Amino acid sequence: MLVSRLSRIGVQTVKQLARGMCTSLCRTGFLQTPYSQCRQPWFELHTDPKAFQGTLFQKHYLFSTTASGSDIGDGSEGKEMISVTFVDKDGEEKHIKVPIGMSMLEAAHEHDIELEGACEGSLACSTCHVIVMDVECYNKLEDPTDEENDMLDLAFGLTETSRLGCQVIAKPELDGIRLAIPAATRNFAVDGFEGGSAHDNI
Ligand code: FES
Repeated sequence: MLVSRLSRIGVQTVKQLARGMCTSLCRTGFLQTPYSQCRQPWFELHTDPKAFQGTLFQKHYLFSTTASGSDIGDGSEGKEMISVTFVDKDGEEKHIKVPIGMSMLEAAHEHDIELEGACEGSLACSTCHVIVMDVECYNKLEDPTDEENDMLDLAFGLTETSRLGCQVIAKPELDGIRLAIPAATRNFAVDGFEGGSAHDNI
C-alpha cells in the first residue's frame, strides 16, 4: 500500500518536472512549484548575490585590522622615552627624547647632534666619547667592559665620568641624563695609532 502510494508521488513529480511546473529543488528536498514555498529557502538566500556580498563584507570587517595611531610612524611611538640633554663644546644644550633601549650614539645621530661614532658602535674607536655631567647618573650606568675601557683610554680629554656614547643605552633610571660632548675626539683605533689625530668636533 505504502509502496504504491510512494510510487504514485514519484510519477506525479516526474510529470510536473516534465511540464516545467517545478522551478527548483530546495535544500530540504521539497519540490518548489509556482504554487508552493520551500519551508527553508536557505539555498536561495545564500546564492543571492547581495547576500553573498554581505557575507564577504562581514568577513572582511571581522578580520581586517586598522593601524592605531601608536602603530604608525618610525617605530618609536608608544615606546617609553627618557629625556636626554646633550651639551656641545660651546655649552649649547639640545634636549631630546630617547626611546628605552636606544644608544646615545644612535639618538644623537637621529637628532643631528654632532657625535662622531666612526666605528658605528663596534668598540673600535673613541669618537663617540661623552662625559656624563651628573655623577649620580654616571653611577646608574652599567660598568664599562674591558673593551670600552681600552677605547676610553685613547679618548681625548678623558674624565672620571667619561663613557662611550654607543655603549650608553637608554633606560628609565637615566631619565634626565646630561651628556657633554668633548671639544675634540681622537681616532687612533680606526685610523691606526700612527695616523691617529685629535680634531675638533666641528
Ligand atoms: Fe666607535 Fe662607539 S662609535 S666605539
